[in-house]
Amino acid sequence: MILCANFKANKTRQETRAYMAVVESFVSANAIEDTIIVFPPFTALEHIPRNVLIGVQNAYPVSNGAFTGEIALEQLEEFDIKTILIGHSERRHVLGETQEQIAEKFRFFAEQGFVIVYCVGEPLTIREQGNEALMRYIDDQFVGIDLSYPDLILAYEPVWAIGTGLTPSNDEIEAVHTALRLKTTAPLLYGGSVKVDNAGEIMALGNVDGVLVGSASLSANDFCEMIAQAAELKQ
Ligand code: 13P
Repeated sequence: MILCANFKANKTRQETRAYMAVVESFVSANAIEDTIIVFPPFTALEHIPRNVLIGVQNAYPVSNGAFTGEIALEQLEEFDIKTILIGHSERRHVLGETQEQIAEKFRFFAEQGFVIVYCVGEPLTIREQGNEALMRYIDDQFVGIDLSYPDLILAYEPVWAIGTGLTPSNDEIEAVHTALRLKTTAPLLYGGSVKVDNAGEIMALGNVDGVLVGSASLSANDFCEMIAQAAELKQ
């Protein structure tokens, strides 16, 4: 399983340090073999991880240059960052990133050999139109994306399930993941209101290889509990 914690614009450097201490001890003490990835804010990248991966939530697809307010490859290299989240719903819908810009980021960071957690997902109006419309919408989010990229992790996050407490039914999650499985051999994560109460059953679904967790990952103890649930599934 792959379990990702996306902090978004939450936690200070100090809070991240304390959080990582809890998660890293838990992973060591329980000999966890699953892949754990934490995406802290840029300001907390200084942490040198022992047994979890640290990734960035975004970056600009250049080595360096005149891009005010952005962070580029050169700054990531200083922190040994080789993992990036691309296409997250908040970047698409709140920050207005276009598929063209997203594809450009994907190309650039794939060329640099990054692990890319690539996010797709539909708004509620599309979900209400049925499965065919939903898959057509997701297909548009694959334009310019190499689904055979070896270090790709694909995350299905319905926009309407993010931060709302709502989730698709288990059957609905499985249906989308089964359709995605026909398009790529990449690990498939589900994201959107994953928490301690539902993480175990979601990870047990067919074609679900892990979870991408936002708000519920902000508690180190809750995130560790989800890691424990993943470890239990193997037994
Ligand atoms: P929530 O877990 O808060 O719904 O956020 C999901 C998400 O966007 C993870 O990237």
